[in-house]
Amino acid sequence: QRALGAELPGAEVLVVSNREPYIHNHIEGGGINVQIPASGLVSAIEPVIRACGGTWIAHGSGSADRDTVDAADRIAVPPDAPSYALRRIWLTEEQQDGYYYGFSNEGMWPLCHIAFVRPAFRESDWRYYREVNEMFADAVVREAKTRDPIVLVQDYHFALLPRMVRKRLPKATIVTFWHIPWPNAETFGICPWKEEIIDGLLGSSILGFHTDFHCNNFFETVDRFVESRIDRERRSATLGGHETLVRPYPISIEWPPSALAGQKPVPACGAAVRSRFGLGEGVRIGVGIERFDYTKGIVDRMHAVDALLQNHPEWLGRFTFIQAAAPTRSKIASYRALQDEAVALADEINARHGTPDWRPIVLSIRHHDPAEVFELFRAADFCVVSSLHDGMNLVAKEFVAARDDERGVLVLSTFAGASRELVEGLIVNPYYAYDMADAMNRALTMPVAEQEARMRQMRALVRTRNVYRWAGQMLLDAAQLRRREAIETLA
Ligand code: G6P
Repeated sequence: QRALGAELPGAEVLVVSNREPYIHNHIEGGGINVQIPASGLVSAIEPVIRACGGTWIAHGSGSADRDTVDAADRIAVPPDAPSYALRRIWLTEEQQDGYYYGFSNEGMWPLCHIAFVRPAFRESDWRYYREVNEMFADAVVREAKTRDPIVLVQDYHFALLPRMVRKRLPKATIVTFWHIPWPNAETFGICPWKEEIIDGLLGSSILGFHTDFHCNNFFETVDRFVESRIDRERRSATLGGHETLVRPYPISIEWPPSALAGQKPVPACGAAVRSRFGLGEGVRIGVGIERFDYTKGIVDRMHAVDALLQNHPEWLGRFTFIQAAAPTRSKIASYRALQDEAVALADEINARHGTPDWRPIVLSIRHHDPAEVFELFRAADFCVVSSLHDGMNLVAKEFVAARDDERGVLVLSTFAGASRELVEGLIVNPYYAYDMADAMNRALTMPVAEQEARMRQMRALVRTRNVYRWAGQMLLDAAQLRRREAIETLA
């Protein structure tokens, strides 16, 4: 906010993303409730736009969304203390199937994540993807009150939009952030429309990834597939006379997280969770919390719980793993198959090791609101983030932020971007159940002093490298660009 005020006086901010920060749904028996979706993108961007104000353009996806907007499809949010406008865009079922389920989530998502799920590319999905990108670009132009707004474009749903906005608003500062990994050139080459996607992204003024590694993969991809000039020192790519800065901005969370307000002390959270899930007094708790996505390694961590109980029978009856998983993208076969597999595996492991009054795995498949998620984090002896591949993973950072008692252990996949920063977690290979089981046992037996030392280091990092710094850094770079462009117009 300070960066915006001082560095970008009077600048107008527009955010574009697929997922909206607040979803309104009809509830049974009448009435409307508001849901905050499980999305790393939303957790990161929402506190930033809440602080700086502006307009957020997103797909209206809730059953009651249309009932809450004004004539211009806008609603002031957050619902309890409005500070910015949410502009909802409506998509037809065909657009939603082609652009969101199809090209974005059956094409780009598996293309960019190494999880051994084959990407599917269909001509009709691509047509809808282009069409929806155009619709959102039109909305940006319609919503913009100035000719040089700052447009913050989010994620793989909008790879074509930066170029489309650049054509209509040449003076806009377009900052695009890619929330997922960028694969190497050989892998990206699978995409039949790779040139169009690269061209679309290079309409941005600044293009951000989580890590240097992803930036380098992007440069390699640009170099391989389009005629451009790459300047590794300036970290930029120039296409058709337009330069795009390509930089790493490791994303983070707000500090302190708003979900921490109103939380009970840690022992009370433990008691609440134990009674909710019917766990005995002395039973130790591990947690995993995420969307039910095949990139998250949910099945793999269940295998690790199985291995833990086999290799360390001392935990039989004394340890339960609670997996909270929010159903996601369930129209897609690979997501449904994952759910079925996880449910069957939990049953199998519970049947193998469990007793009438103790289950080693509790699977809670539903949406959990942020207060519930934080209560689980606070009740846990350890939290597992076992992503097979992940841009950053904000669950790891939220777990650390939830533990103001400085206790608890983070078991973290080496294939999540977060493992580059949270090095005091127990870093594991999620493909190797034995390795993860060993880390779980280490977490359960770790002396308190060591837990505290590790947690303190990680908390200090997330506290300073929080999401305001993430956004601030991008906005400072944007401000510098704008000043440079202003000088060029004087010359
Ligand atoms: C990831 C993506 C986000 C997306 C989120 C939830 O974090 O990077 O763009 O919003 O998953 O997925 P969904 O498809 O439900 O929006």
